[in-house]
Amino acid sequence: MLNELEKIKKEFLDSVEAIKDSKALEELRIKFLGRKSALTSVLRSLGKLVQEERILVGQKANTLRKEIEERLEQIKNSLYKKGASKISTDYTLPGFPLSLGREHPITKTIQEIIDIFSPLGFQVATGPEIETDYYNFEALNFPPDHPARDEQDSFQIDGGKYLLRTQTSPVQIRVMEKTKPPIRIIAPGACYRRDNPDASHSPMFHQVEGLAVDTDIHFTDLKGVLSEFIHQMFGKEIRMRFVPSFFPFTEPSAEVAISCIICGGKGCPTCGKSGWLEVLGAGMVHPNVFKYVNYDPKKYTGFAFGMGVERIAMLKYGIHDIRLFYQNNLQFLNQF
Ligand code: DAH
Repeated sequence: MLNELEKIKKEFLDSVEAIKDSKALEELRIKFLGRKSALTSVLRSLGKLVQEERILVGQKANTLRKEIEERLEQIKNSLYKKGASKISTDYTLPGFPLSLGREHPITKTIQEIIDIFSPLGFQVATGPEIETDYYNFEALNFPPDHPARDEQDSFQIDGGKYLLRTQTSPVQIRVMEKTKPPIRIIAPGACYRRDNPDASHSPMFHQVEGLAVDTDIHFTDLKGVLSEFIHQMFGKEIRMRFVPSFFPFTEPSAEVAISCIICGGKGCPTCGKSGWLEVLGAGMVHPNVFKYVNYDPKKYTGFAFGMGVERIAMLKYGIHDIRLFYQNNLQFLNQF
């Protein structure tokens, strides 16, 4: 009897490998576990054996039955998986929604600004965020004791050897050092100042600088370019005004304001009841700046401007707190 069980086992193991489909599986099940199978007849004949033999053969026969059942079950599962993978791919089903993310509102605003200036002939230039005092102040005609150099305004690195640029204006110097006129560039980028964060201040913020230098550049060119920018950015109905101001690297200098986009110039809390919103600084390049980059101030003239990107974005989208840009709040960011 024990020999018989060994034979059944061997035969089963020999034939099990060949199973390719559920039909063959069922045939094999019937052959080895069915009513007429050799194993069933062994189990049936147990009663004829003496007790010791019955226990021994009975145990072995039941173990073999279990082994065969488990193996067949395994094969059934793997056949099912193969079959299932064949039929379950329905390419017509809609895919899972995939979140692609989106551009940050500041990136988007910078891109909008570039898109306005590019057709006017301005190329994008960049410069380092870690600057030297020379590029950030000295070559921009800041007098040595000018308060803007005060450590309170800038983040100093290496005991004052370097600083985080407080404005994008140093890119003007870097471009002029490397290029001869005519020049038309805009330079977007991050700037840093030691300001405590509040609704309108952030120690890190962004500016876009503009510079045009040629033999025949006038204040009217500056006005023309900026009014084109303002109208494209905020709308044709927006008015613009120049208010005399001071920057060391431009002469004359002006603050440019636009008629309030909220109240249309009547006066409201956003414009402090004045009807005007300051949006950028501008002016004609100071001859001293040209001297630093070895341009002849008698031959060349130029205009420059600088604007805060956060301020432009806040006005355009009606955002009241600059800190919202940097809190990574998806409810805020997903609106853009
Ligand atoms: N750099 C100035 C600032 O951060 C902004 C500015 C004013 C830039 C006048 C200019 C300019 O190019 O001509 O306050």
